[in-house]
Amino acid sequence: MQPIQDKMTQMQHNLGECVPWYACEGRYRGCREDFWVSGFWPGMLWIMYDMTGKDLFREAAWQWDERLERCFVRESNMHHDVGFQFLPSAVIKYKLTGDKDARRRGLFAANFLAGRFNPAGSFIRAWNQEKTGWAIIDSAMNLSLLFWAAAEAEDPRFYHIAMSHARTILKHFIRPDGSVCHVAAFDPVNGEKQNALGGQGYGPDSSWSRGQAWAIYGMANVYRYSGEKCFLDAGKRVAHYFLANLEESNLPCWDFRVPDRQREPLDSSAAAIAACGLLEIAESDEKDEELYRKSALKLLDALKRECAAPEDAEYQGLLLHGTGNRPAKEQVDVSLIYGDYFYLEALARLSGWKHRIF
Ligand code: GLY
Repeated sequence: MQPIQDKMTQMQHNLGECVPWYACEGRYRGCREDFWVSGFWPGMLWIMYDMTGKDLFREAAWQWDERLERCFVRESNMHHDVGFQFLPSAVIKYKLTGDKDARRRGLFAANFLAGRFNPAGSFIRAWNQEKTGWAIIDSAMNLSLLFWAAAEAEDPRFYHIAMSHARTILKHFIRPDGSVCHVAAFDPVNGEKQNALGGQGYGPDSSWSRGQAWAIYGMANVYRYSGEKCFLDAGKRVAHYFLANLEESNLPCWDFRVPDRQREPLDSSAAAIAACGLLEIAESDEKDEELYRKSALKLLDALKRECAAPEDAEYQGLLLHGTGNRPAKEQVDVSLIYGDYFYLEALARLSGWKHRIF
């Protein structure tokens, strides 16, 4: 971990006010604070603080939840991804430091997320603008914010909403063969499912590898919070599909069903997220613990071998070969802050880090 610690120290020094999003040739480019990725850098800082006890990481992480909270009181595009933003900034800050403002911010974000629930279709609405009936697989990961709030505020409403959305994922997203669609569109008035959409995947019937990874980790988390075994089984089904579809390098293409797959780019972020999900399954499943842990190690070994960025502390980014949005031809073969976050989380878990962010 020392090279990663050195790299993060240097990054913190050089990033200034930048909200890191993706990096080309070792330089992170920034995005707006309301963009879905804005919680991952503070999450990395909190993990590093928790592992090393070094104040510099705590100090660097401290102001992020306040910074993100300001997006709620100005014109912005906050949506279903507040879990990705506030779990690694506000909620982990509260868990590690007891800061009451951080707790308040986490609960505020959970209320905002709960307010996006559509009871007619039992789904949490994705994005804004005209997409009133859309739900996406990524939201599986945001449910942890609701589970946390249910326990923290002793208010089961949050739990019921999370579980309703989770059941919708089982019914409308995860296919019998373990593959997963990115977007499901519902009639927002009567709640009926209309169709599936390709979203960031190749097409409506395809299998966007990062979406599969969100499902593996998300379903394993729902099982941890609820104890309902159907979610663990669903996470395992998606995991088996994911593992069976890896390239010879043991890394995932950005979509498992894109034509001419060998010529298409990989997505290292999908591998890092899936590794965390597999570690979560391993901890939940005594019988098959070894199987899932070994599978996670297989992915992490491949990431280290094929995707590790140069160790030079000045070179920003931990992982190369991430693919953000291939259909839009955006962020292809780059470092992605969420790939870096989940890679660090997986390595931290293997080194004995016990706190959870998601
Ligand atoms: N949450 C959007 C993505 O995975 O790109």
